[in-house]
Parts: sequence; structure tokens; C-alpha cells
Amino acid sequence: MSVISAGTGDTKYNIYISKQLSKNLLNKYVKRNNKLLIVTDTGIPNEHIKNLKSIINSRNCHIFKLPKGEKSKSLNSYKKIIDELIKLKFDRSDSLLAFGGGVVGDITGFVASTYLRGINYIQIPTTLLAQVDSSVGGKTAINIPQGKNLVGAFNNPCCVMISTNYLKTLPEKEFNSGLGEVIKYALIGNSKLKNIIEKNPKQIKDKKEPFLKIIIEESIKTKSKIVTKDEKEAGVRAILNFGHTFGHAIEAYNNYKNISHGAAITLGMIIASKLSFYEGYIKEYQLDNVINIVDSLGLNSDHSKYNYSKLKKFMANDKKVSKGKLNFIMIDKNFNGFKTSNYDIKNVKKALN
Ligand SMILES: NC(=O)c1ccc[n+]([C@@H]2O[C@H](COP(=O)([O-])OP(=O)(O)OC[C@H]3O[C@@H](n4cnc5c(N)ncnc54)[C@H](O)[C@@H]3O)[C@@H](O)[C@H]2O)c1
Repeated sequence: MSVISAGTGDTKYNIYISKQLSKNLLNKYVKRNNKLLIVTDTGIPNEHIKNLKSIINSRNCHIFKLPKGEKSKSLNSYKKIIDELIKLKFDRSDSLLAFGGGVVGDITGFVASTYLRGINYIQIPTTLLAQVDSSVGGKTAINIPQGKNLVGAFNNPCCVMISTNYLKTLPEKEFNSGLGEVIKYALIGNSKLKNIIEKNPKQIKDKKEPFLKIIIEESIKTKSKIVTKDEKEAGVRAILNFGHTFGHAIEAYNNYKNISHGAAITLGMIIASKLSFYEGYIKEYQLDNVINIVDSLGLNSDHSKYNYSKLKKFMANDKKVSKGKLNFIMIDKNFNGFKTSNYDIKNVKKALN
């Protein structure tokens, strides 16, 4: 088992990564005499939920299932979970456990930040995206009709327990969505991870051990280092948004349907790499290198459907607009990410050609 820590001071927490969830470790965090509500969704295979419940020692363990999908990250589901906690008479010594992908993790973390002004929660992420990204960093949120993730809080879990076994049942589309984020860490500063991907694309695609565990571990090392330096997203954390300005615009253009978050971010990273090339930060062979990495993992690198005129409106709504000008995350010749508002708009149009 590998252990990586994130956060600072009172809200520091450990992230445990292993093939199989450890019963002993889990029961160190779940107190026998306190209540526990496992929040999960209808897409998580029942065998995983049954196995989890069977190893928990708590005398008072309950399960709350949301319908699967992004729609569950809503005010309505938030209220339903709160109603359940009130009905079960949860107090501040009781805990929540998020068991699922980013949807379950985000809403559970948000409920935990507000119920009784805050109770503990544990993250057991079951999608690759949640394991390498959303379960680490303490960002929690729900969506409202006006936009995605507009209501939320920074709230670190008390621990994150990652088991690669859960990924065996994950559909390919969801697995690929997480791979997009793994590539991101490789391109914004983790050269070891980049090397591993370049040498073992087939083993990674086939979910082979020890590669799964290694890519998750390396991704988390990069994410935890960055979010620990900048817990509230005031500076360096911005580089985690590499590919996201274009990717979010692609998601919004598609009305958040038909394309996964990771697939949109992957296209966004290709566009951002092209922009980095046109701005002179990377050489042409390095741009080819980025495209080859994406292709070697079987992800789509063809963004020709999305040109500047289609995405412009959606890019202007991006949270990264400051004083009317968009900031972009680009990469340099050493594959380190950096934020800049200093670019030629002609190159943005060229990258989106
Ligand atoms: N908090 C953050 O920092 C952060 C970062 C990135 C993304 N997010 C959020 O994460 C969400 C997306 O997360 P996601 O991609 O995990 O999607 P998701 O939570 O919707 O899960 C995808 C699908 O996979 C199913 N599933 C989960 N685990 C499974 C398993 N082991 N086997 C089979 N099926 C399984 C789920 O039921 C669901 O249908 C978005 O809401 C996004 O905003 C948050």
C-alpha cells in the first residue's frame, strides 16, 4: 500500500492506494459506535456496495443511493441526503462515506461541509477520474440551473482510500475519461509519469497491475503537491486547469451531453499544446509527442469539429477570465505547465483551426 498526504494543519489527510481495500485501515476511520451513511449511486455495481458494507464494523451503517449521473449533483439530492441525516439523527461525531465517482464525491463532500456546520467524511472513489482527481484537493460542489459547480465549499475529507480493483468493472468510456486527467499530470510537470505512459500504453489501457497503481500514485503525487501549496486556488493550482478552458467550452457547446468530461479535456489539452507551440514555448516534435501519447492510449485527439467561432462564446464564460482577458495554461519545453494572459489571439484562432 502507498500513502500520500495532502492538505495542511488540522485538515491534513492521507490518501491510501492499494489493489484491494484494507478492512483494518477502513475500520480505523469508521468508529464502531458512531453512525455512518454511505452515499453511492445506482451505477456502482451492487457487489462493490455489498462487499464494502460487509467489512465495515460500525453497528450503525446506512446506505443512501442516488440515481447515477450528473443530474444527481443537485440541490434536490442535497436536500434528500440532509433529510436522511436528520431522520437518522446524525450528530457531529457521525460520518459520511462517499462511495462512487466524482458526482457522489462532490455532493457528499458538500453535504459534509454544511450539515451541522461540518461533519467528517471519507472518500472511497470508484472511477479513475475520481481516484486521480476529484477525491483529492477538497473541492466539493453541486450544480444549480445557472451552472455547474456554482455552489460548493473547500472541504478536505478525513482520508481517501483508493482500490484499483474497483476499476475492473468501470466501462471503457469512464476509464478513458480518467486517463485524460492522468495525461494532464504527465504534461504539466510529472516527467516520470509521462515516461511510464510512453513505455506502457497497452498495459495501461488493459488496466494491468502494477501500472494502474503506479499511474494513480504518480497522478496523486502531482495533484496533492499542487493543492497543498494552494488549497483555495489563489495561484499555482491554476495549472491543474491545463486543457480545461477549451475542454469546458467543448462540454458547454455539447450541452454537457455526448462527450465525457475527460474526453473534452483531452481535446482541450491538444488545443492548448498547439497554442503553446504557436506561441513558441514547445517545438513541433513536442506537440507531436503530446498527440502520440493521447493516440497511444486510444483516446480521441481530433478536435476538428470545434473551431474558434463555435467555442468563442463558451470560452468567454470561463471562470479564468480576468479583466476581460482569458488566461490560458500552456506548457513549456520541459513539459511544465504555466499560466499566462500574454498571447496573440491569432494563435488561439490558429490552434482552433
Ligand atoms: N471536486 C473536484 O475537484 C472535481 C474534479 C474533477 C471532476 N469533478 C466532478 O466529477 C464529476 C464526474 O465524475 P466521474 O467522471 O467519476 O463521473 P460519475 O461520478 O458520474 O461516474 C461515472 C459513471 O460510472 C459509474 N461507476 C462508478 N464507479 C464504477 C465502477 N467501479 N464500476 C462501474 N461503474 C462505476 C457511476 O455510477 C456513473 O454512472 C463531475 O460532476 C465533475 O464536476 C470534480
